[in-house]
Amino acid sequence: MEIKIPKGTQDILPVDIQKWYYIEEVIRKTLNRYGYHEIRTPMFEHTELFVRGIGESTDIVNKEMFTFPDRKGRSLTLRPEGTASVMRAYLENRMQRSSKVMKLFYFGPMFRCEKPQAGRFRQFNQFGIELIGSPSPLADVEIIAAALEIYKTLGLKKLQVLINSVGCKKCREDYIIKLKSFLTSKKDELCADCKNRVEKNPMRVLDCKNIKCQRIIKEAPKINDNLCNECNEHFEKVKGYLNDLKIRYKIDETLVRGLDYYTKTAFEIISGELGAQNAIAGGGRYDDLIEELGGKATPGVGFAAGIERTIISMDKQNVKWPGVDSLEVFAIVMDEKNSSLAFQLLQKIRKAGFSADMDFVGKSIKSQMRAANKYNAKYTVILGEEELSRKCVILRNMGTKEQKEVNMEYLIDELS
Ligand code: HAM
Repeated sequence: MEIKIPKGTQDILPVDIQKWYYIEEVIRKTLNRYGYHEIRTPMFEHTELFVRGIGESTDIVNKEMFTFPDRKGRSLTLRPEGTASVMRAYLENRMQRSSKVMKLFYFGPMFRCEKPQAGRFRQFNQFGIELIGSPSPLADVEIIAAALEIYKTLGLKKLQVLINSVGCKKCREDYIIKLKSFLTSKKDELCADCKNRVEKNPMRVLDCKNIKCQRIIKEAPKINDNLCNECNEHFEKVKGYLNDLKIRYKIDETLVRGLDYYTKTAFEIISGELGAQNAIAGGGRYDDLIEELGGKATPGVGFAAGIERTIISMDKQNVKWPGVDSLEVFAIVMDEKNSSLAFQLLQKIRKAGFSADMDFVGKSIKSQMRAANKYNAKYTVILGEEELSRKCVILRNMGTKEQKEVNMEYLIDELS
């Protein structure tokens, strides 16, 4: 029986890979301009990192992690997100010693055992950035501006920025008492998950997508009405700087995000093209995370974006992808006995810096020509018996259909 791909995963086929190259190139170029440096962390980490980093009562940690024991019984987890790993690497490699502010970006696959649906996968790719070491509201704004600039360069339109402040430990203490008391009074109307959340982590209720819960959430006390002076001032500055840059945003008082590490600013960028899974990117500030993971208290802010969701949105908006690079030279052999000679010539062409290929199944000349057309080859080099006897080949321009005989020695000069 044929073995099929696991649920919630996908192959990226050669016909689509140019899209990925293009997006990765735009991300790298844009973020280099913003002073960010790429970091690559392992695909799996000790489970404890995500439990402590993301939060024990989050859906990600509770229900969605791919966790397995190694051969010695230690618990490992495929990374469900990048921030906790980047913070671990920041601490482990003592990166704070080299610079007070560290600006990092990453991309790669993340793993969450969610119910697959349009735009939601079990293995998906994110790109993300983390700005570590700055408490300034300008840092929050830079993160949002960088995300928007990447999308603008990619040609994505009609994105909406939703922002909120989720406060800090100090202001949350009083707020949680108020929220708990409100939710307890409505407990009977909440979904089964939220009934549990009221005690364990009531702010998680605000993130529930259940329609009945959403109705209750609308009436619940809002965190932004309960911010301490410092958080309030920070939020006002973030909004002011966004205004200065003419970045449009909407305040969403119920936005709390699905990870526990956020403090102060939380934001999402949504795309109307995505249906139910409309968040194309999400992020915010996490001023307690590094301390939570055993480091010295260090502020941080960042975001991550789904690459699959970016591609889906671009395709739905009919954004033009850059053209697929065509092959420069395709070698055609009239007689199979000259295949080795053709291959030597091919290697010479490739070494000279041209993309070049030939047929490897000994097809007829007609089908070799068809293959050259399929690859969209700019030139064909035809090795015919008669020309070879004069140490020559035929060089054919596939666009103009012009062709001429060229001595093999001068072929590279001719192509150049
Ligand atoms: P997140 O909101 O969990 O945040 O994920 C960020 C983005 O990843 C989402 O907006 C979405 O585009 C994409 N994504 C998440 N889950 C899936 C899925 N199952 N299938 C497809 N795409 C998905 C984080 O991961 C934080 N680490 C972001 C961050 C960085 N906050 C601060 N720094």
